[in-house]
Amino acid sequence: MSKKVVILGGGVLGTQIGLMCAYYGYDTYFWLRSESSIGRTTPKIERYSAMMLSDLEKSKALVGNPMGGYLYPRGMITDWSKATVESIDALLAEGKKNLSENIHIELDPKKAVESAYLVIESMAEEPAAKIAVYEKFRDLLDPETILCTNSSTLLPSMFAEHTGRPEKYCSLHFANTIWKNNTAEIMGHPGTDGNVYNEVVKFAASIGMVPLQLHKEQPGYILNSMLVPFLTSAQALWANEVADPQTIDLTWKLATGAPKGPFEILDIVGLETAYNINQMKPVAHEEGTLEYRMGKMLKEKIDKGETGINAGKGFYDYKKQ
Ligand SMILES: NC(=O)c1ccc[n+]([C@@H]2O[C@H](COP(=O)([O-])OP(=O)(O)OC[C@H]3O[C@@H](n4cnc5c(N)ncnc54)[C@H](O)[C@@H]3O)[C@@H](O)[C@H]2O)c1
Repeated sequence: MSKKVVILGGGVLGTQIGLMCAYYGYDTYFWLRSESSIGRTTPKIERYSAMMLSDLEKSKALVGNPMGGYLYPRGMITDWSKATVESIDALLAEGKKNLSENIHIELDPKKAVESAYLVIESMAEEPAAKIAVYEKFRDLLDPETILCTNSSTLLPSMFAEHTGRPEKYCSLHFANTIWKNNTAEIMGHPGTDGNVYNEVVKFAASIGMVPLQLHKEQPGYILNSMLVPFLTSAQALWANEVADPQTIDLTWKLATGAPKGPFEILDIVGLETAYNINQMKPVAHEEGTLEYRMGKMLKEKIDKGETGINAGKGFYDYKKQ
């Protein structure tokens, strides 16, 4: 029987991680907290599965194209140099089967995690909520189960003791649209067992990721140590009424040749995540500060349902396209 992987949380990233596990043959469970969570996660599963399979289908047209090596869905085809139309057709057939057969949704915490090889926590970026969930699961996990967090901004040492298995716990951090942007940053805390760390490196590679090993704890890992200040600077320009999001994006793209600007990236990340990151700063709660204004402006958009690409509208309107 294939190994069981469990994702705690069925949001933007949790869904994508689960789908990659299912695609690569793991028996994949999403633990969700309520019936209404199922109603929110099921459309994401459908939407991201369709996007993954569509990108795989489109990659057939890239075979033999010199740009193909830059554009193919890197997480879904492990060796592009050997890819042919026939091999991609075979991956499509297997991928469709795996995505339809290997995914399960479970509300019962005990049933969700029993006999799990690996559990990945990918819940909202709220420390109290994460601690509550770790404490809910600490006595339900099998002794040998490895536990990882996909947290973007919080350190594993903040949670290690709450998990009840500090030596079997580390961070395994993915990037959005993981079937294309297949980074897996792996970061232990001082108490993570070296063998567990190595097992997580192996697991990441087995779901099509490129394991990127950090030698010590770093808030924001490698990627977000660069990305969060960048996105925050863009939001500060917007909140300070220096320029509108479209102009800020255009400036960045024209001047650097980057394919996306910061507000297009924020729409992909989701405005709730940006808001949660903003709210972690004490200064964001002091009226009159720029950070307070940034939080208020993000909240106004969230309250209107403009939370990003998944909602059809964020800083840009995707329903028009
Ligand atoms: N969005 C990104 O680009 C991105 C990238 C890498 C890592 N991450 C990390 O992934 C994690 C999830 O982010 P996301 O963007 O998927 O968030 P999201 O808001 O899309 O999803 C959060 C999920 O957590 C669930 N949840 C919230 N509170 C809960 C609780 N108390 N009990 C049980 N479930 C609860 C929600 O129902 C939802 O399924 C965060 O730690 C974030 O830092 C996000």
